[in-house]
Amino acid sequence: MADLPLAMLAELTHRCPLACPYCSNPQELTGRDAELSTAQWADIFRQAADLGVLQLHLSGGEPASRRDLLELVTAAREAGLYTNLITSGIGLTPARLEALDAAGLDHIQLSVQGVRAELADRIGGYAGGFDRKMHVADHIARLGFPLTLNAVMHRENLDDLPATLDMALRLGARRIEIACVQFQGWALANRAALQPSRDQVARAKELVRAASARLKGQLVIDFVPPDYYSDFPKACMNGWGSTGLNIAPDGTVLPCHAAQTIPHLTFENATARPLAEIWHDSAAFNAYRGTDWLPELCQSCDRRDVDFGGCRCQAMAVLGDPGAPDPVCRKSPGRAVLDDLLSQETVDIAPPDFVYRR
Ligand code: FES
Repeated sequence: MADLPLAMLAELTHRCPLACPYCSNPQELTGRDAELSTAQWADIFRQAADLGVLQLHLSGGEPASRRDLLELVTAAREAGLYTNLITSGIGLTPARLEALDAAGLDHIQLSVQGVRAELADRIGGYAGGFDRKMHVADHIARLGFPLTLNAVMHRENLDDLPATLDMALRLGARRIEIACVQFQGWALANRAALQPSRDQVARAKELVRAASARLKGQLVIDFVPPDYYSDFPKACMNGWGSTGLNIAPDGTVLPCHAAQTIPHLTFENATARPLAEIWHDSAAFNAYRGTDWLPELCQSCDRRDVDFGGCRCQAMAVLGDPGAPDPVCRKSPGRAVLDDLLSQETVDIAPPDFVYRR
């Protein structure tokens, strides 16, 4: 019997006013017509709570693009779930925020594209977005929501790390996630433009180390380094089908955000089969669960129960084989492919322009 999930990410919609080049949503987005209704989401939230889920992350796209966001938060709270809204802030008026507060929304994770309006608006592909976001951040602070700032960092903004930390303090965030771009979904189309250099990453690590000590008790800093520069892979999703699951806007139940890039897997829908059955019994959730499926290299490795062979979607994206060891691993034959990509994409020339979705 599998462990029970603790967290669920609900991608309420793929609609979003921004067009970030590092968007991790799939290259083919789900349209509005295919999105679940309010009642369908509420049913999934109840099923998730019954299954053992404690934390619900309401994401997108931009979740505020759903007109029924308030009803969805209310339903999640009635199901007994801790609710975290992952948002760009665009579409959150003061009145909406007050209503969400009254409905019991527990936490807000606000994304920032940069610390300067010109850069942030260019990255987000949305003129005026930075100023609107700063107003939303003021209202979030006024209402006293626990706030995490989510700063996605890459070649163009990683050197702004000190100013990004200052921004988090100024906005009253309790936590900042410095998340270097993970190359999934649309971000793969912009890998060469977004890939930071090894020197940038080394400087960032040192800055984070010093700032974490300096700001202890004031600001929690979570740093997600770009794993292409790591020696060992991350334990993606804490292990496939172990502690978390994602629901796509149309109700498709996924073991991780990018699982649909793995072509041999078929995913079931929460409107057609109980969530608990999908979690425990579906072929997709059992495909890479645990360690029995691991290739020989990982089976005999002392990190077998640390990283579970790494990220299946990264093995698929880089090597075309979701059953291979994550190519980040120094012991993996796939590492040469990754090193080759890095040397091609971080040469000292101007990076290519961003490719936007539209
Ligand atoms: Fe799918 Fe890592 S994103 S396993």
